[in-house]
Amino acid sequence: MDWWEDASFYHLYPRSFKDSDGDGYGDINGITEKLEYLKEIGITGTWLSPIFKSPMLDMGYDISDFYDIDPLFGTMKDFDEMIKKAKKLGIKIILDFVPNHSSDQLDWFQKSIDKVDGYDDFYVWADGKDDPQNPGKKLPPSNWDGVFDGSMWEWNEKRQQYYLHQFLKEQPDFNLRNPKVHTIMLDILKFWLDRGVDGFRIDAVPHMYEKVNDDGTYPDEPIDEYASPGASSKLKHIYTMNQYETVEILYEWREFLDDYQKKNGGDTRVLMAEAFSPINVLDQYFGNGTHVGVQLPFNFGIKDMPTPPNAKTIQNTVDQWMSVMWKKHKMANWVSSTHDGARVSYRLGHEKKDLIQILIAGLPGVSVNYYGEELGMSNIYTNLTNQPNSIFRTFGRSPMQWNDELSAGFSNTTDTWLPVAEDYKTLNVKVERGVPRSSLNIYKGLQKLRKTRAFKAFKEAGAFIYGAVSENVFLIVRSTEGEEYRILLNMGDKVENVKPIDMSGDVKEFIYEYVLCTDRSPHRLGEKVDVRNIIMMPFEGVVLKKVFPK
Ligand code: GLC
Ligand code: MG
Repeated sequence: MDWWEDASFYHLYPRSFKDSDGDGYGDINGITEKLEYLKEIGITGTWLSPIFKSPMLDMGYDISDFYDIDPLFGTMKDFDEMIKKAKKLGIKIILDFVPNHSSDQLDWFQKSIDKVDGYDDFYVWADGKDDPQNPGKKLPPSNWDGVFDGSMWEWNEKRQQYYLHQFLKEQPDFNLRNPKVHTIMLDILKFWLDRGVDGFRIDAVPHMYEKVNDDGTYPDEPIDEYASPGASSKLKHIYTMNQYETVEILYEWREFLDDYQKKNGGDTRVLMAEAFSPINVLDQYFGNGTHVGVQLPFNFGIKDMPTPPNAKTIQNTVDQWMSVMWKKHKMANWVSSTHDGARVSYRLGHEKKDLIQILIAGLPGVSVNYYGEELGMSNIYTNLTNQPNSIFRTFGRSPMQWNDELSAGFSNTTDTWLPVAEDYKTLNVKVERGVPRSSLNIYKGLQKLRKTRAFKAFKEAGAFIYGAVSENVFLIVRSTEGEEYRILLNMGDKVENVKPIDMSGDVKEFIYEYVLCTDRSPHRLGEKVDVRNIIMMPFEGVVLKKVFPK
């Protein structure tokens, strides 16, 4: 098994993790300072949201220099030191890679406007359509609308053409059909690989290509009759998402990373893909039998689960992934939340957050934890008026809660870039370390379990089973020769009596021991129980270990 296949990843939002210089923004030295914490809680690797030079109109997803660190986060020297320490601790560092667009401040875009030789077609430029109502005026080349409101096309006076932007108008899309852009992308990857990173999370994958007609025009997208009234777009994105070339470029990047490893040694470099795409598309991202692509097309199933979820909802969600991705590739990954949306405690309620952590850690494969979720952090409510969709997107980006002191120990100023969540006095690393059944200690316990033989054996035949054992109780079994765990999660607010064992075979032993209990559980660790009759309290989550007769 390769290192990433059962890794516990940590999605770290650098701006909010730890501020080392007191300006109210998290930074690289802050991350370096706290790397031991990641070690303490059992993390294999961490992926960082962008730290590159940027005017920050989209919080760093608008990059104005792909080869440098933004001063807000520190310097290249700070970066190198972080990598050095991470290597010493055995923590992999994965960077965000944003190939779909750049900032309009990047000189490549400025050169493209000026049609400087070689940069002419670096971005997606198109002539406007004649406007019958206003002779001389030019209309956008197609009806496409962007992720952050409004047309995907922006007029440029100087070049007298429109350029494409799937996101902000200050984030022009690269023309990924241009071979020169391909070369530059590989060069960017190489630059950071040479500095020691272990892989990349690829941003906005479904948005990389747009359909173009043979005559160079762009086809309108049809109206989506099922679009919800509040949807920002009423179009079916059949020409602006998931175009077939996407798969090819992912394969190209994977080949590049694999070659890099062959030449330079070291462990496998990984690619993760941010893609809200249908499972059959994610399947292609992973590989098509002839080519391999990204090892980890993110699985947002649990994040997007209909609420409130019962055991059946969970089973369906898990099945959707397993029936394709596990069946074909023996690969699974589970993401709880991201920087673009609400935290688990808000989506499902604080009483269910530990159950989701157990689910993500208890299922086979890779777990991806968004920073602070291991503490059960809450959403905050602010609206940064200069940020797209800020109210929904800054929800879950508040400062990491290290202790119950000033600014939760995140910074030594009270003027932090986003306010600290109100419940930081009780929900923080320092306090939770001392509370036996805190979210943090549950998380740490789970990471220890993930290192046991039974959890590690998940690629062996029959090494895991999962499913609903009642309307609200979900079961996961993890086993190997001579070792077995049963995980039980009661998603409901009622006491349930369950029999989480299949007695049709020749099972003779039924005694298990409690080895992990959430704070909703009345049981003590080490207590024995007969699995033919288990009582689950509302929202209780437990892990039972089979007692094998001597
Ligand atoms: C991804 C990022 C999001 C960003 C967008 C544009 O969806 O997660 O934060 O705004 O891409 O880069
Ligand atoms: Mg700082």
